[in-house]
This record gives sequence, C-alpha cells and structure tokens, in this order.
Amino acid sequence: MITLGIESTAHSFGVGILDGDDIITDERAVLKTESGGMVPRELGEHHATVCKNVIEKALSGKKPDLIAFSQGPGIGHALRVGAVAARSIAMKHNIPIIGVNHCIAHLEIARKLTGFKDPIMLYVSGGNTQIIGFESGRYRVFGETLDIGIGNLLDVFGRKLGLGFPAGPNIEKLAKKGKEFIELPYSVKGMDVSFTGILTKIGGMIGKHSLNDLCFSLQETSFSMLIEVSERAMAHTLKDELVITGGVAANKRLREMCGIMCDERGASFKPIEAKYCTDNGTMIAVLGKIMHESGSRQNIDETAILQRWRTDDVDVTWR
Ligand code: ATP
Ligand code: FE2
Repeated sequence: MITLGIESTAHSFGVGILDGDDIITDERAVLKTESGGMVPRELGEHHATVCKNVIEKALSGKKPDLIAFSQGPGIGHALRVGAVAARSIAMKHNIPIIGVNHCIAHLEIARKLTGFKDPIMLYVSGGNTQIIGFESGRYRVFGETLDIGIGNLLDVFGRKLGLGFPAGPNIEKLAKKGKEFIELPYSVKGMDVSFTGILTKIGGMIGKHSLNDLCFSLQETSFSMLIEVSERAMAHTLKDELVITGGVAANKRLREMCGIMCDERGASFKPIEAKYCTDNGTMIAVLGKIMHESGSRQNIDETAILQRWRTDDVDVTWR
C-alpha cells in the first residue's frame, strides 16, 4: 500500500511516501525569507506554486492508495493549499483521505524511528515548545511555553546580532567557544517555561560580554529549563523514554543534555535524524497510515482545516 503524506502547516510544503511501512521518498520545498518572518499570503502563494512539482517528484509515477494531510494546527493560508491538494488527489484516484494533527505526527514518527513504545516528547521548534506524552487515551501537553517558542528566542536574539535566519545553528557554533557563564533569568513555572525574560535581559547585555559567552549562557539557561520540565514529566508519569523533535532538536548540546538527564535516571534517550525533526511529509503519512489501520475514516466534508487544533483534542484510537 502506498501512502502519500502532505505537510503544509507553515514554511514547508513537504511530501512523504510510504510503501507499506517503509519510508521511500521525502521531498520538500521550504519558503525562505531574509528576516525569517512569514507573511501568510506569501506562504499560500509559495505552496500553491510548488505543490504540483513536489507531489509529482515524490510520487514519481506511483499511484497512492491512501492520502494523509496535515489538517492543523497552523497558518490558514498554508494549510489550505495542502488540504486542497489532498482532496483533489483523493477524488482523482478515488482513494481514502485522512486529515492528521501536525504535533501528533511529530510524535508518531519519533516512535517509529526510535522504536520507543511510550516516550515523553520534547517538541522544540520556532513556534512550539511543548512537553507531550500519552495518558488516559490522549496525547497530553504536560508543559509548554507561556510566551515564545525556544527557536523564536534564538532567532530573535540572533537577529539583534545580525546572525541571519535561522540563528539557531550559528548560536550553537558560537556557544561552543564560550568560556564564562553569565547568569540569565531562569523561568520555570510548574511545568511551564517562559523565555521573554531571558530575551529582554540578554538583549541589554550585547556589547558588554563576548558573543561566545552570551550564546553559551543563552543555550545553557534555556536548555536547562527544558530539561528540568522534561525530567519532571518523566518522573510524574513514570515513563522512561525521551525523544526530542522540532528544528531545535538538531542542537548537539541539547541532545547531550537530554542524554545526561536520561542516563542519570536510568531512562533511554535516542536522537532522530534531523530531517525528520523539522516539518516533513513523511510524518504525516506515518500518522495517516496508523489512523487508517485503526479504522479512522473521513468524508471530504470533514477535511476542513483546523488552524487551532489542540493536541489533546484528538481522540487517540490507535493506542
Ligand atoms: P513548527 O511549525 O513545528 O513550529 P518551525 O516553523 O518553527 O516549526 P522548524 O524547522 O521545526 O520550524 O524549526 C526551526 C527552528 O529551529 C528555528 O528557530 C531555528 O533557529 C532552530 N534551529 C535549527 N537548527 C538549530 C540548531 N542547531 N540549534 C538550535 N536551534 C536550531
Ligand atoms: Fe512542526
């Protein structure tokens, strides 16, 4: 069975193909801007322009048997292009269509690639920072950012320094050369984290400390906050596996800290290949297939996009 997955919640228009359970293709076109900012209408135009080519390249003549698409959450203009493409393909080939939740797709591909049964997932991207796990029939958000996403913290700080977008990889490089730790606001509130205090404080320190030390301290402080809440989520739920996903999961220091924390508590941590941490069509195909196999079915009139679809609104029928 060939499953086609379409991702289009934000800057990426991605298409992944599964043959049975095997990942056979992962194609994507990503809208890049100088500033990193996204204008919704331009996103829609970008996706509409690239969608035909990306889908055809991924399919390379194969006929899909099932089509999955990211139904939400995300930016309306972007989501709509994926949904329209998915509906057209479903009608053209007369095959089942299934809309999936983007955040849960990150989690299900992490389970597939690591072989972990029931991990806690730290989801760290530009827009999202959440600690998610399965409990009582749903994926629950145990903790999240109260303001901006961790990637956004890095990108906004990087913009002040002229480091380009995305700034995460450059900050990682500079941080490696940092020597002195500079105290920054460490803001963990219960299971939630807040990053704007760090951003304000460190913004005022530019020029007064070396760039390397600032980047080092920024990473150490913000990542420690994430590790603290992830560890608490694992302790409360008695889960002993951890995965990280989202663009910031590419960071080697963050991965190292996850590994150390898990080692210390006798838990397991496995990193995932970076291309499956950022938004991709394969994860949408993976979740679509799992849902289809568990009996989920949708009519075309149930495939409208859900811009604010929450992770814990989804009834998890497949676990
Ligand atoms: P989502 O729609 O899931 O919120 P997104 O639009 O933020 O995703 P991603 O590609 O998942 O996009 O994440 C991009 C973020 O990852 C950027 O903020 C970028 O700075 C950050 N990032 C990328 N590589 C690294 C790295 N090596 N270290 C730290 N941050 C990184
Ligand atoms: Fe994402």
